[in-house]
Amino acid sequence: MGATLEGIDLVDPDNYVDRIPFEWFDHLREEHPVVWHPEPSPNHGFWSVTRYDDLTQVHMDWETYSSEVGAVALEELDEEQLAIRRSMLETDPPRHTELRKICSRRFSARGVGRYEDWIRDVARAVLDTALPEGEFDFVGAISRELPIRFLCSIFTVPQEDAPELITWGDQMIANQDPDLSAAVVDKVDTEAYRNLPFRSPTALKVFAYADRQRDLRLEEPADDVIQALTVAQSEGILSEQDFHNYFALLMIAGNETTRHTISHGMLALMDDPDQLELLRDEPERIPAATEEILRWATPVLHFRRTATRDTELRGQQIRAGDKVVTWYVSANFDPEVFPDPHRFDVTRTPNDHVTFGPGGPHFCLGAHLARLETKILFQELIPRLRSIELTGPVERIRSNFVNGIKRMPVRVTTT
Ligand code: HEM
Repeated sequence: MGATLEGIDLVDPDNYVDRIPFEWFDHLREEHPVVWHPEPSPNHGFWSVTRYDDLTQVHMDWETYSSEVGAVALEELDEEQLAIRRSMLETDPPRHTELRKICSRRFSARGVGRYEDWIRDVARAVLDTALPEGEFDFVGAISRELPIRFLCSIFTVPQEDAPELITWGDQMIANQDPDLSAAVVDKVDTEAYRNLPFRSPTALKVFAYADRQRDLRLEEPADDVIQALTVAQSEGILSEQDFHNYFALLMIAGNETTRHTISHGMLALMDDPDQLELLRDEPERIPAATEEILRWATPVLHFRRTATRDTELRGQQIRAGDKVVTWYVSANFDPEVFPDPHRFDVTRTPNDHVTFGPGGPHFCLGAHLARLETKILFQELIPRLRSIELTGPVERIRSNFVNGIKRMPVRVTTT
């Protein structure tokens, strides 16, 4: 099984277990920046786009490269699946604009800014529990705890629900990792779940949870994101299905990605203690360092578009209906944009990474929140660390979609 391009296979999740195959992306950017990549059946193959400028062009030109025709993941969906599973991610303007407006104010810089003190308190509480342990799994004790707790506050759902929401998020997004999900899409028959997000049966639990939260708000309105979705459903802007898919999108997107950013950031600082020391000595550098952590982490490896007409990209003829896959993880290491890209440099400036997308209609809705969470965590953590080191292997998620760390055992001494 597996596609090959001079031995390169960007699809097989096994190729991301030990590390990101950066040498493949470096080679493709240099020699084959837009290249046809075959895929195992039932998929039909895709154009692989690895340069920063080309990725930007594709994302900005949503009329040629649609999110609505086809989907935005590698999995090819038929019309029925598309109709049932479609979330905001799989729409183009004008419908996309209408959906995004439902929540955009709450995720603006000002909208999330009002949670700043609260986020800091949560970060302190999580660190107060984890750090005195001395030896612990950094992912389990810190990275995994924080984003979901922030999300619980933005959703105003009980903090006690956090562990369950974490488990559900893991099962859905890590649907290629047998350690995290029973329904591993390329290993077992998931046909029964073909109409559920990520082909995951866990989606039904998320939908039921969303229903309970909506019913609570119908009884007593709240000032939160779920209320905004509830109102949109009452007004007919969202169908029941749209409501479910929107809720699941926010829960999944807001949970995993920030977690992996925090883990990768800590790992990079452990690998390069001089940079950790620099940030300890000059904490005013942490906001800029957060951008380098985001570039370095690139938690979402790719998204896909579908060509709506015949077109040309860097000399390649793209046909209407072709899948076009843009690799953020390659664009963020494009030497044309980032000098010495494989060097982690907390002082890097400018740092126009595409970790949240390059702009365009689908630019990450949660970017302000994710930035704030990451910055605050490192502002609170770094001054407390006297030393931190790995005590065992770093385990990665088996996935061609998320750049995830699932375990990272550390030993810490505090100031
Ligand atoms: C470091 C953390 C995060 C990363 C790396 C990330 C990455 C991304 C990327 C790459 C996209 C697609 C951009 C494009 O198509 O060009 C996206 C979209 C999106 N993200 Fe994030 N995200 C993060 C955090 C969050 C958070 C905290 C939330 C909120 C709960 C969130 C909600 C969304 C939503 C709803 C979309 C779809 C936007 C649309 O279709 O208009 N994300 N994100």
